[in-house]
Amino acid sequence: MRNINEHTITEAVLRGMAGCESERLKEVMSALVRHLHDFAREVKLSEAEWEAGIRFLTATGQKCDDKRQEFILLSDTLGLSTLVVAQNHPVSTQATEATVFGPFYVEGAPQLPQGADISGGAAGEPLFVRATVHGPKGEAVADATVNVWQADSEGLYDVQRSALESAQGRALFRTDAQGRLDFRSKLPVPYPIPTDGPVGGMLKALERHPWRPAHVHFMIEAPDYQTLITHVFRDGDTYLDSDAVYGVRSSLVGDFRAHPAGSQAPDGSTAAQAFYTLDFDFVLERASG
Ligand code: BEZ
Ligand code: FE
Repeated sequence: MRNINEHTITEAVLRGMAGCESERLKEVMSALVRHLHDFAREVKLSEAEWEAGIRFLTATGQKCDDKRQEFILLSDTLGLSTLVVAQNHPVSTQATEATVFGPFYVEGAPQLPQGADISGGAAGEPLFVRATVHGPKGEAVADATVNVWQADSEGLYDVQRSALESAQGRALFRTDAQGRLDFRSKLPVPYPIPTDGPVGGMLKALERHPWRPAHVHFMIEAPDYQTLITHVFRDGDTYLDSDAVYGVRSSLVGDFRAHPAGSQAPDGSTAAQAFYTLDFDFVLERASG
């Protein structure tokens, strides 16, 4: 294998993978090489541009640690996450749509009882969430595991605040026998995705804004059902049609309803301050097989 040139390099690399035992790995890597080479040919990539690309990817990796996942942010902002979610979860008429996972899920959130406040003392306007989890035939999904996470009223997740020692705006619940879940929180607000790393630099260079519309994340797991990873977005938000990570689906826009001070809150109390309520019904797809 000598005298490889720009016309023969792609075939040479593909031939080198011919002996790979895993058909799937071979398929994925062959397609990656073909598309990468075609990309370089299409834009006639210069050496300086290739070096800049390597520096960008190096900085992306170096920005990652146990609390910061810059590669997920890159995938999200390039639309790859939405593409992968969409092609693995085709829209069905009955089930709740999935959307991007994002980089701020944390395993091991505190398990809280129904009705609990997940805000962990964070400031913001009170929000009462009443959700249900059903299967495709309308059956209640009891004892489903529901992870909830959201940013605070300054648009930051707890993991972005190094001074915080306990969870804020995240919790794990179990649905009751009727598939219901009630909890309290604070009204989510729109927030910019982190811009202090290479992905922020990329957005700036492309003259793109970093904002996401206000939302609450949900991950719902139950035996015999497909895991649902989704958000509920706040109706009326400025960024619903320009989400920096392409995650909005119309079916996921919820009615965060405002109630004035003095109204009766869902917990039966007379609210001293204005509050919001959100009612949302999640429908899970049955697991196949
Ligand atoms: C989020 O909603 O938490 C998120 C999603 C993608 C990128 C950044 C943040
Ligand atoms: Fe989020």
